[in-house]
Amino acid sequence: MEPDINSTRIFAEKFLALKKEKKAVLLAHFYQVPEIQDIADYVGDSLGLSQQARQTEAEVIVFAGVHFMAETAKILNPEKKVLIPDMGAGCSLADSCPPETFKKFVDAHPGHVSISYINCSAAIKAMSDVICTSSNAVSIVESFPAEQPIIFAPDKNLGAWVNQVTGRNMVLWEGSCEVHEILTTESIIKLKIEHPEAQLIAHPECKAPVLALADFIGSTTALLDYTSRSKATAFIVATETGILHRMKKNNPEKNFYIVPADENCACNDCPYMKMNTIQKLYLCLKNERPEILMDTELISKAAKPILKMLEISERIKLIK
Ligand code: 13P
Ligand code: SF4
Repeated sequence: MEPDINSTRIFAEKFLALKKEKKAVLLAHFYQVPEIQDIADYVGDSLGLSQQARQTEAEVIVFAGVHFMAETAKILNPEKKVLIPDMGAGCSLADSCPPETFKKFVDAHPGHVSISYINCSAAIKAMSDVICTSSNAVSIVESFPAEQPIIFAPDKNLGAWVNQVTGRNMVLWEGSCEVHEILTTESIIKLKIEHPEAQLIAHPECKAPVLALADFIGSTTALLDYTSRSKATAFIVATETGILHRMKKNNPEKNFYIVPADENCACNDCPYMKMNTIQKLYLCLKNERPEILMDTELISKAAKPILKMLEISERIKLIK
């Protein structure tokens, strides 16, 4: 359902006034609804958002994204107040990796370095050696010697793609994102027949047969950058629908066709990301809850592999 323009504008104005008064910052993921993206101080992918969370001087962080993202912001800013519009905004991928089973997985692979995708809970991060995002997964893996055995969790599709790109043989956890997992080669081929000029761009959380057809594979930010720098004028987009807002804004003259998960549903809208609404955004800042609250010991254990990721990413950027 389309949001009511008047009430959207009123909530946006009220939120912005409160944000100023409370010296808050609004960080939003690209999968958030357009009206939230449009008023954010920073819109980005998981890596960009954690870098922003590390740098911000604001006293309050309003995090428009899912729980593991807001939790990461809290881990990086234990002394700050981190608010999330809807505490129920979880993630099927993070949920596919329960801490007790993950511990058994780690214990069953002695001598392996444990690399975890940021889409996991703080408990999983605390048991990992280093975190990665889809932006830096290849570089993080390649920062270890080729002979180093590695376990990778929780996304098996991203892990398999990184194995392919790097020639490694990481042991993969069997998790996946319900939004990307559902995209099929059938619907892509159908779109390709309708729009033969269009390039297929895909997020590495998609399954291998989808990735095998792609002209370009990358994180949310990488896909966005590619659509701006590519000479192609049309793109079939295999990822979550929220990204289209910025893609169209940055490239109004180009055409974008989102891969339908299924002709009868809007399943490639992440149901968790879309739990955040502009009304909830305003209310969370007004009431200063829901707030991300965490055990201090868990914060310090989970911070280490995130900081290691940020440090490796920074080093790679300097070398490039
Ligand atoms: P990125 O934002 O890192 O591309 O990840 C996509 C995603 O699924 C976030 O939940
Ligand atoms: Fe999790 Fe997938 Fe939603 Fe991202 S898009 S938050 S990985 S369920």
